Amino acid sequence: MAKAPKPLIAGNWKMNGLQRDLGELRKLIAWMRGASPSCDVMICPPATLISDVKSLVTGSRIKVGAQTCHAQDSGAHTGDISAPMLKNAGASAVIAGHSERRADHKESDKQVRAQAEAIHRAGLTAIICVGETAGERKAGKALKIVSAQLKGSLPSGATARNTVIAYEPVWAIGTGLTATPEDVARVHRHIRTRLGALMPAGEGGKVRILYGGSVKPENAATLMGVANVDGALVGGASLKAKDFQGIISAYV
Ligand code: 13P
Repeated sequence: MAKAPKPLIAGNWKMNGLQRDLGELRKLIAWMRGASPSCDVMICPPATLISDVKSLVTGSRIKVGAQTCHAQDSGAHTGDISAPMLKNAGASAVIAGHSERRADHKESDKQVRAQAEAIHRAGLTAIICVGETAGERKAGKALKIVSAQLKGSLPSGATARNTVIAYEPVWAIGTGLTATPEDVARVHRHIRTRLGALMPAGEGGKVRILYGGSVKPENAATLMGVANVDGALVGGASLKAKDFQGIISAYV
């Protein structure tokens, strides 16, 4: 069996955060100095705060990510931001295919794959999100949906170094509903197996598979203890230092 990958706890701030809110990040940085968790920690602020966050975390162990990007490196795309621009601002990773982008902006697997390719071209890590809706789950299609999203969204150049997968069941995002450890174990095991088939030999076992969806300090240790769960992608609970620290503490 492959050695378990180093876990990653990533906070996705979504469309939240002004410069005046950065005090929470200062608290997190101070706490991290003493806590020395055995996982990597990342903050994915809105694009407007990437360079502020990068300045603050420099010298700490916290990494900076972005939440989406355009599939092209530059061009006439008013309002869009490219992977090289995000890198230039201080990001080392970019989330691709979050369910909110798939729903709000009708992003398809094909587009997500093109974004992931752009992220890789820029030398950044792609955090590719997959996950079924409540209806798909009810219809017993969760594994089928996740398989199709993985096949459609994962670029051929994906490796364990440049790619992280986040399993985020749509019905568990921002709802307070969390998948049971059994649900999570079943889907993560399935993702691990699929990655083994889709990626070059040996890579699938080393890719980090994060769980996301109402992760809180109260459920983090249980969820992070599930086989094939290599960390979390955290929304709401990443906005307050105390809550995010409580989640990172699953690895302290
Ligand atoms: P919540 O933690 O707020 O449920 O959000 C999860 C998520 O979508 C992270 O990307």
